Amino acid sequence: AAVEKGNYRHFMQKEIFEQPTVVAQTLGSYLHRADNSIALPQFDFDLSQIRRVTIVACGTSFYAGMVAKYWFEQFARVPVDIDVASEFRYRDPVLEEGGLALFISQSGETADTLAALRHCKENGQTIGVIVNVPTSSMAREADLLLPTHAGPEIGVASTKAFACQLAVLAALAAHMAVKKGLMSRDEEQEVVRHLLEAPACLNAALDHDDDIASMAHLIAPARDVLYLGRGPDYPMALEGALKLKEISYIHAEGYASGEMKHGPIALIDDKVPVIVLAPSGPLFEKTVSNMEEVRARGGQVVLISDADGLEQAGEGCLATIEMPKVHPLIAPLVYAVPVQLLAYHVACVKGTDVDQPRNLAKSVTVE
Ligand code: AGP
Repeated sequence: AAVEKGNYRHFMQKEIFEQPTVVAQTLGSYLHRADNSIALPQFDFDLSQIRRVTIVACGTSFYAGMVAKYWFEQFARVPVDIDVASEFRYRDPVLEEGGLALFISQSGETADTLAALRHCKENGQTIGVIVNVPTSSMAREADLLLPTHAGPEIGVASTKAFACQLAVLAALAAHMAVKKGLMSRDEEQEVVRHLLEAPACLNAALDHDDDIASMAHLIAPARDVLYLGRGPDYPMALEGALKLKEISYIHAEGYASGEMKHGPIALIDDKVPVIVLAPSGPLFEKTVSNMEEVRARGGQVVLISDADGLEQAGEGCLATIEMPKVHPLIAPLVYAVPVQLLAYHVACVKGTDVDQPRNLAKSVTVE
């Protein structure tokens, strides 16, 4: 049956609001609530023997992979190489024995990602595929098929598929750590408990829809917008910038907060809003000093943080968005919501075609 918009104005809006449900659905197929353990679908290789992970994807799916790199390294202590598919396939990458090549894709048909998959297969890599369309070309070629259960995603800007990719990747990284003997049963249970908190935290983030809609009027007139983040929130800054570019046509860049002074700070004046993604925690102080650098140059900061972070650094910001206080593992999932909503509402203010932005296709099946 055709997918309907229901009470929503756009598919993208509907898909943003579906995230708590589809993330719960996806987690449900990887986590056992009875004993808080992680289980993957059947496959026939030994995860504990994987010596290197190579992640390849495009666009938003690539940013999910960038977040996962932090998790694989942190939990499974496995080296991770990551690249966009269009670069990876032509750079003659070193593919050694014992390598797991992971391909992340909503459609499972992206031409560059599929070509990279075949290249890795020919070069003896075990092929893992995280995909939302279970009948897709990539799904058919997987040794380890990890479906996301986001349901059909219609909006060209990917939202709910991304959230589900993150959920699956977190489960996979933790499971690999268990298999390698690096994560105890207690630690596994704790990871599962935190992941299961994600749907409720996503709902809490969605509660800020109205505030973000009013804030969008402040951002819509901008010609350029910068997004900053650290650690796993750095890829989220890249994702925020991509979302805004795609649907509002405002030029936006994502940067690692600490990189700003190595170049982009030259752009800062009172006309360039700087969106800072910074949950409170060990790296927060560092991000606050980056915010000071922006402010000292007349820059306007929008701070997205939790109550603790906003109390510490919210004063003097152009605007703030309060996120629930969440475990660092699920912060990227939760912080995706405000950047999606911001891009969405800015696009609505500008009157662009949210679901079918100019020059873009849902699935890029040509090189
Ligand atoms: C995201 O909003 C994009 N429209 C785009 O970057 C997309 O993520 C990319 O083309 C990859 O698509 P896939 O996940 O279907 O492979």
